[in-house]
Amino acid sequence: MTDLLTRRFDTLGPYSPLFYDRPLEFVRAEGVWLTDAHGDRYLDGYNNVPHVGHAHPRVVAAIAEQAATLNIHTRYLNDRVVDYAERLLATFDDALDRIVFTNSGSESNDLAFRIATQHSGASGILISDFSYHGHTQALARVTTGLRAHEGLGPHVRTLRIPDLDGADVDGPAGAQPEDAVLDAALREVDEAIASLQAAGFGVAAVLFDSLFSTEGLNRVPEGYVRGLAERVRRAGGLVIADEVQSGFGRTGRSFWGHRNHGIVPDLVTMGKPMGNGHPLGGVALPAALLDEFGPRNMYFNTFGGNPVSAAAGLAVLDVLADERLVERAQENGRAIRAALAQLGAEHPWIGVPKGDGLFFGVEVYDRPAADAGARPDPARTKAVVEAMRHRRVLVSRIGRHDSVLKMRPPLAIEAAEVDLLLATLADALAEVGGR
Ligand SMILES: Cc1ncc(COP(=O)(O)O)c(C=O)c1O
Repeated sequence: MTDLLTRRFDTLGPYSPLFYDRPLEFVRAEGVWLTDAHGDRYLDGYNNVPHVGHAHPRVVAAIAEQAATLNIHTRYLNDRVVDYAERLLATFDDALDRIVFTNSGSESNDLAFRIATQHSGASGILISDFSYHGHTQALARVTTGLRAHEGLGPHVRTLRIPDLDGADVDGPAGAQPEDAVLDAALREVDEAIASLQAAGFGVAAVLFDSLFSTEGLNRVPEGYVRGLAERVRRAGGLVIADEVQSGFGRTGRSFWGHRNHGIVPDLVTMGKPMGNGHPLGGVALPAALLDEFGPRNMYFNTFGGNPVSAAAGLAVLDVLADERLVERAQENGRAIRAALAQLGAEHPWIGVPKGDGLFFGVEVYDRPAADAGARPDPARTKAVVEAMRHRRVLVSRIGRHDSVLKMRPPLAIEAAEVDLLLATLADALAEVGGR
């Protein structure tokens, strides 16, 4: 292990993050189980890319079969690619009737920015003040939730995303009535738009993650995202929903996270789970926007939406439907929320259940969450994550204080495996709370 770590540092450098004090080396996986180099098995409560399960046989077979038949760049006709486009577009509202394929979430968001800035003739971007949407130059200029040396661009205004269950709404969680939180948050949107206009940037777009996952799974007031979208459109900008985290049924409530907010975005960006680990991303948009962008730009993507990627994407859609994974995410999510609420009653230093479906967590505090002086406790959160790892269950943490336990298993998780995840969490909380 040390040897591999040294070789990694000596070749890839030490800067790319590794999880855990003692990093794990996995050698194979299936379903929600990962096997390490010693032969020990870990329950995957973290990874959303293997959406329908690690090494799902149908996805593996689809990739292998297509790779053995034809894999070629995207400048020839291929029925599999068009089949996939049709199947994927059928999951969206009618207004979103075109798709551009890419290879990653970053590429998708970068392309969405190009489309929005060209459409609006403006350059101003609204972004959450603690978020991550990718690693290109344009996205580095709007990155607020990770270190990026470029720093925020002058054309960027940040929004504090309200959280009715969070530690960052003024005062103890939930102290303010929902409509007061909504009014204040939308006033902030108005001010940000006015500031962009006054500075001459105008408004090109708002980009947000429909689950507000990097922020810490914020529960926004009803109407917040609708109000935000209306204001951006009134100012001439486009609404970009980043579904890299919240898409493909992750929330259980809907196939797409933006539906949970009652909006139809102008652009939807996708990545991570789309190919179950095979690099695949995309941007869904109305024909009118593509017809504006297309003639002005010779946009072409060598790998984006090649036949093997399309085969992987199609197999993911098939498995999601045949194994009822979105419905199961909803059922499991409901049971998880109830169990987390019960754990909160036993360990008052954890907050209310956060998230939706199979992306869930709890804020970890330094004392009972209901106490006026309660503060998010990143060290305690890390201790819980490490205690879970010690018990061979993978989870992580998110949020601006790194104090929200982040649990996001493959959608393929079975009820008995959910029970094991929750029982292990109960043990880890008991261990850390007893220190
Ligand atoms: C919400 C969101 N958008 C975009 C990205 C970037 O995706 P990728 O790493 O595939 O470029 C990420 C990656 O973590 C993400 O979480």
